[in-house]
Amino acid sequence: MPTDPLARFRRWFDEARRARIPLPEAMALATADRAGHPSVRFVLLKQADGRGFVFFTDARSRKGRELRDNPRASLALYWHAIGKQVRVEGRTEDVPAADVDRYWQTRPRESRLAALSSTQSARLSARAALLTGWRKFDRRYPGEGVPRPPYWRGFRLVPDTIEFWRHRDHRLHERELFVRTRRGWSRTLLQP
Ligand SMILES: Cc1cc2nc3c(=O)[nH]c(=O)nc-3n(C[C@H](O)[C@H](O)[C@H](O)COP(=O)(O)O)c2cc1C
Repeated sequence: MPTDPLARFRRWFDEARRARIPLPEAMALATADRAGHPSVRFVLLKQADGRGFVFFTDARSRKGRELRDNPRASLALYWHAIGKQVRVEGRTEDVPAADVDRYWQTRPRESRLAALSSTQSARLSARAALLTGWRKFDRRYPGEGVPRPPYWRGFRLVPDTIEFWRHRDHRLHERELFVRTRRGWSRTLLQP
């Protein structure tokens, strides 16, 4: 029985944290539109367990629209100081609203106001307009009770494949590919 790749991911992530790598949870998220045109940006990994990899975003954004039309996505994390890369591919699903609410409550009030005042990925006439909108919500919700807008959501990438890459001398890097099968995960080595 090969190693559980999610357990391996946790170990590598903990190692990156212990190495004090800035933002070890920053990951490149690739999506594609209906026509297959790819786009990539960084998001923050907020949870990783046996079910998958969770991030939060504005569902009206470019990535949100692309995931609605084509829920397949890919992630990559790279931790230079420990010479490791992880790549993940799979389908995204919605995180249940109750879990999104719980995470929303942990965000700084200022960030919650920002989510209310920005239509992520839409055109902005001038930065001043964004700040004016933010102040409007700041006045409207003076306390901690800033409501979560329904478009601010969580996505879980449920992996079909996970690749672990380890830096080795002479560019003879190690690559291990885990593929989900009906009977669990299969493991193969790949040439560097
Ligand atoms: C390190 C880093 C972390 C980020 N984390 C998030 C995130 O967790 N969620 C998010 O919506 N945008 C995040 N962003 C902003 C995105 O990269 C991107 O600008 C935004 O989500 C709009 O992307 P889109 O137009 O492709 O949808 C982050 C940016 C950086 C540089």
